[in-house]
Amino acid sequence: MNSVNTTPALAVAELTVDYGGVRALDDVTFTVAPGEIVGLIGPNGAGKTTCIDAITGFATARTGRVMLGQTNLGESAPHRIAAAGLSRTFQSLELFDDLSVADNVAVGLATVAPAAVWTDVFGRGRRREVAPAVRDMLDHLGLSDVADRRPDALSNGARHLVAMGRALVSQPKVVCLDEPAAGLDTTETEGLATVIAGLVDLGTSVLLVDHDMDLVFGTCHKVVALDFGHVIASGTPAEVRRNALVREAYLGTLHPGSTGGQS
Ligand SMILES: Nc1ncnc2c1ncn2[C@@H]1O[C@H](COP(=O)(O)OP(=O)(O)OP(=O)(O)O)[C@@H](O)[C@H]1O
Ligand SMILES: [Mg+2]
Repeated sequence: MNSVNTTPALAVAELTVDYGGVRALDDVTFTVAPGEIVGLIGPNGAGKTTCIDAITGFATARTGRVMLGQTNLGESAPHRIAAAGLSRTFQSLELFDDLSVADNVAVGLATVAPAAVWTDVFGRGRRREVAPAVRDMLDHLGLSDVADRRPDALSNGARHLVAMGRALVSQPKVVCLDEPAAGLDTTETEGLATVIAGLVDLGTSVLLVDHDMDLVFGTCHKVVALDFGHVIASGTPAEVRRNALVREAYLGTLHPGSTGGQS
């Protein structure tokens, strides 16, 4: 008998996070299916970054459960979660400006597969080589020409790609992207959309947080909307776009052109 694998790539169940007296996330439940790009939207302070933080081990959930495939991530440390195949980018990028672009990307590999980096980068006397996975990722993202430069010498768009490269070089099962299009121009955002859409072909499912609604509604298969830490709607982009609660809490506050007045 044929059986269909219905295990989500990522399952977030009843996740609640408190910061002191602030309930930043309240009983949040959603799934990301294999090969799916899921958008997580909502106004400033809605809890989107907190949700990514809790999923990836950077914040401690009060209650709830996060499953990566069949693996319960429990209260694992961020590097263990990354090694299990769940990586992320940061809203503030968090690049290492004293390292080269290539070494910034290599950090994403060092976290999950140290041997792949140390052997190639440091294991051959004084020769210093870029690990093949890093080279491939730089090539994939169009960063090969700036591999030896420092991130602070690059455009904002290129810096965002370096952050993406660091999260993707380990070929994660799921990646959480926190506002990858913030501050990008239209051309840069279109390039980013192509990279994100192509991730599913690499076997990586995506949780995408962004205020650029053209990017989110144009790229995602499913969208979850948060407000004050609660899920107020989820469904197809069309369903969420016309949802009255979402329009009132968020979409109605964005500037025309949908790149958002929020960042
Ligand atoms: N480290 C923290 N300590 C205390 N409160 C926090 C902390 N991080 C977030 N918060 C609070 O938790 C709530 C959710 O914040 P969060 O950063 O997750 O929102 P967000 O949806 O990512 O917003 P934005 O669109 O501005 O990035 C807000 O009330 C915020 O002030
Ligand atoms: Mg945020």
